[in-house]
Amino acid sequence: MIEKCLFPVAGYGTRFLPATKSTAKEMLPIVNKPLLQYGVEEALAAGMNNCAFVTGRGKRAIADHFDISYELEHQISGTSKEKYLQGIRGVIDQGIFTMVRQREMKGLGHAILTGEPLIGDQAFGVLLADDLCMNQEGAGVLQQMSELYNQFRCSIVAVMEVPDDQISAYGVIAGEAMGDGLYRVDKMVEKPAAEEAPSNLAVIGRYILTPDIFDIIRTTPPGRNGEVQITDALQAQAQNGCVIAYKFKGRRFDCGSVPGFVEATNFVYENIYYDL
Ligand code: UTP
Repeated sequence: MIEKCLFPVAGYGTRFLPATKSTAKEMLPIVNKPLLQYGVEEALAAGMNNCAFVTGRGKRAIADHFDISYELEHQISGTSKEKYLQGIRGVIDQGIFTMVRQREMKGLGHAILTGEPLIGDQAFGVLLADDLCMNQEGAGVLQQMSELYNQFRCSIVAVMEVPDDQISAYGVIAGEAMGDGLYRVDKMVEKPAAEEAPSNLAVIGRYILTPDIFDIIRTTPPGRNGEVQITDALQAQAQNGCVIAYKFKGRRFDCGSVPGFVEATNFVYENIYYDL
């Protein structure tokens, strides 16, 4: 059973400037709920009650969001507005929230390594909150992956098919099909040119990682954009051990980009949101 989930939330979110100048991209709301809360709720639903945030400077709102706000509680307690706090109160009661700061933004691999003291020697989930995943038909994506981990006991990456003209924005896998949307990964490339992409299967922001990944990241040199890439570490892990790619069930919205953010907002407003 996987108990911990790491949330790298230290990035600059430059594509959302000026909104992200003094607040975290992950705190931007899709309708009335911050992106990060959707992610935390997905992790909690998968049994990962221990949520570890890798934050950075100027991200204090994240710690405050997952803590009680006495002033607000006092102000609206006993009024008709109290119901609006119930959702986040349930999340706060269920989760354990820990934090570490990434001092320099040296890439996702580096952010994950920065979270090592909060994770220790056990398999863990990684959730990038700017990838919003919804599965109205059943279990959330992290829960689907956690069940696979229990079966295979190796690292798992969530993948989806993307068109050729978008593939260069992703980490891309190649591997042998194992049936049921599963692939044994033998190659991973970060942001390849369309003609060099080994497949059309792109990695999205959901991972289950075995703890040997920390030692692998420590020896992974900076790659694309001079950043320590988790894709490169996973490529090494796939060579020595086992990494499985999983075509998840559900929809994913790229909320790190403005069009994806707007699409998610419309989807949630039309299908998920209701006024209490
Ligand atoms: P992105 O590259 O999509 O996020 O990283 P960004 O850098 O915040 O966005 P732009 O490109 O400037 O608009 C994917 C995820 O990894 C985290 C980010 O917070 C985001 O959730 N990340 C990335 C870190 O925590 N640390 C890093 O050094 C890099």
